[in-house]
Parts: sequence; C-alpha cells; structure tokens
Amino acid sequence: MRIGVLISGGGTNLQALIDLCQAGSVNAEIVLVLSNVATAFGLERAKRGSIPTQVIEHKGYDGRGPFDKAMIQALDGAGVDLVCLAGFMRLLTPEFVRHFSGRLINIHPALLPAFPGLHVQQQAIDAGVRFSGATVHFVDEGMDTGPIIAQAVVPIMLEDDADALAARILKQEHRLYPLAVRLFAENRVRLIDGKVEISDCAQDPEGAMINPPC
Ligand code: GAR
Repeated sequence: MRIGVLISGGGTNLQALIDLCQAGSVNAEIVLVLSNVATAFGLERAKRGSIPTQVIEHKGYDGRGPFDKAMIQALDGAGVDLVCLAGFMRLLTPEFVRHFSGRLINIHPALLPAFPGLHVQQQAIDAGVRFSGATVHFVDEGMDTGPIIAQAVVPIMLEDDADALAARILKQEHRLYPLAVRLFAENRVRLIDGKVEISDCAQDPEGAMINPPC
C-alpha cells in the first residue's frame, strides 16, 4: 500500500507512521510527504526517513481550488492508495475529498463527533467532560466529520489545562494512527452504508472506564 501523508507542523503522527512502515511488519510504504508549510519540522522527519517530500504552499495559489489541484497532481503522481492527514491544518475542497473518496483519512484530537474544529482540548475542558481522546475517520466534505474508523479514550484530570490534555491525547494518537493504517494495509476496513466495519477484531464488551475512579 502506497501512502501519502499531508502535514503542516511538527509531524509526530507522521513519525509514528514512518516507524510503522519502516518496522517492516506491514505491507505499506510512505511514498510522499506533502506540506503546505515550508518550515514544518515533519519535512525533516521525512528526509531522515529517506521519504520524498514536496512543499506546496497554499499562499502561492489563487484560492483553495488551484491549491488542492496541485496537491491532487502530486499525490496521483506518487501513485498513492491512501492519503493520511496528519496535523494538516487546511480545509480541503469537495473536489479533493471526492477525488480520494474512500482512501482519505484524518486524525483529530477529540472523540468525534464531539468537539470538531480548533482548540478542541480547551473545548473539552470547558464542557467539563470526564473523557476525551482521539479519532481516526474517513474525511468527507464537512469539518472533522466522516465515518469513524478508530478511537482512543483518555481521562481528563481535574487539574488539566489544554496543554496537559493535548499531550495525553497525542501519546495515544501515536498508537491509534498506526493501528488504523495497519487495518487498511491488511484490507480489514470496509465502508458500508456510511459506517465502518472492521474484520477479524476481538472486542471487549466489558471494557468500560469510569472517571473519576474514586
Ligand atoms: C495532532 O494532535 C492532530 O490530531 C491534530 O494536530 C496535531 C498534529 O500534531 N490535528 C487536528 O487538529 C486536525 N483537525 P503532529 O504534527 O505532531 O502530528
């Protein structure tokens, strides 16, 4: 499976995917890392992993349409089977989403459909929820919407600020995104009537968590 990863920043999720692919236990290879930010540290991570990179700066284009077209061209040129958004902070056009329909996924630092958008850790703290987490989902034409593939749950501590919660979630993102990509590489993800089915999965119906645990 040939993967293209889109980034805008530090790229710790990209690193988790690089580590997965380079460990050799899945039949997957990152063939292109695309960034809309020339200084994104994730580009350096890709170079260290000997992965081709390309910078396509949105600023250089007259609107989202031409920018997304340039990205489509680059990803098609690399022959990608799966596109992973990993901290890519631009909204995509419906044309881009349709072009990669069924093979475009994103990771988001909240338990969607709760808390889409920005500053989501602060949103969760402000709402007073006891759990948050991360979601890997298919991308549709909305913002942080689309059929959910996998989620990780973390507790919110009473003393958490947004940074502490973001760090706790990010740690789980680094487990969750490789898991989701592995499921794709093993051809175990099916999108049926707008919902995701995962094959050959042992589930735990008693796996509840309570917070506060006192
Ligand atoms: C991650 O927390 C990711 O979930 C989030 O940006 C961060 C990127 O970190 N993405 C979104 O908020 C998208 N809506 P990274 O560059 O270290 O992987």
